[in-house]
Amino acid sequence: MGGMNLYQTVSDTETVLRDGTIKLHGPAAFEGMRKAGRLAAEILDAMVDLVKPGVTTAQIDDVVRQMTLDGGAVPATLGYRGFAHSCCTSLNNVICHGIPGDRALKDGDIINIDVTPLLDGWHGDSSRMYLVGDVPLKARRLVDVTYECLMIGIEKARPGARLGDIGAAIQAHAEKHRLGVVREFCGHGLGRLFHDAPEVVHAARAGTGPELKPGMFFTIEPMINLGKPGVRMMDDGWTAVTRDRSLSAQFEHSIGITEDGCEIFTASPKGLDRPPY
Ligand code: MF3
Ligand code: CO
Ligand code: CO
Repeated sequence: MGGMNLYQTVSDTETVLRDGTIKLHGPAAFEGMRKAGRLAAEILDAMVDLVKPGVTTAQIDDVVRQMTLDGGAVPATLGYRGFAHSCCTSLNNVICHGIPGDRALKDGDIINIDVTPLLDGWHGDSSRMYLVGDVPLKARRLVDVTYECLMIGIEKARPGARLGDIGAAIQAHAEKHRLGVVREFCGHGLGRLFHDAPEVVHAARAGTGPELKPGMFFTIEPMINLGKPGVRMMDDGWTAVTRDRSLSAQFEHSIGITEDGCEIFTASPKGLDRPPY
């Protein structure tokens, strides 16, 4: 790395490239992310009343698309590398990138809904877990600890910390509860781009990685398995499942590093960040 061109201060209007640099943003960019993040949160808030036994994941996708468009945004996943849907719906042993379809939710399911409205050029990327009807204690515990992992990671996000401090804190918390941290998928820088530098790994050594600086935007999105961390890809090329078929959970926020900590762009305006809702 050598320290050369690790960061790039970007103006609010210029086109940015996926050139491996970590972008440092100004106040107008924070305002753009605040709006995109708020729309993501409002969409996820609306899922609380929709996620019921009998509802299909395609119906969830339809509501996400309509709410995204009504909010003046477009779903960033629609047409992204051939993905043809407005959100990801990851059920039970699906780790991430579950494809909406005709599967109906049933009592005892856990599901992650991941949305990314692109509003006025800014990406608001967030996901939450939802419990369908009566969910067994072990699954509820997994969902709870996964939410704690996200928030423990966010607590580390402040100027002067290293990116690895976030992954180290998440990994320590998950492993204390004998849960597996997925290694194959990471959080990511975002802003005008959907997926940008840096890669935000959820298992790391404290004190490693780039220093966090005010103006950095990135997601934290730990995927935590009830069993081992291993991943298997399904033949559709998208759906990632747990190799040992154990349950998996994930929460995601988009954040911006401020002068004294961070701002969560995708916090729920209704306080519906954590189940039970
Ligand atoms: N929203 C996902 C993320 O958190 C990315 C989904 S890409 C898709 O980064 F194509 F699978 F939708
Ligand atoms: Co993301
Ligand atoms: Co996402």
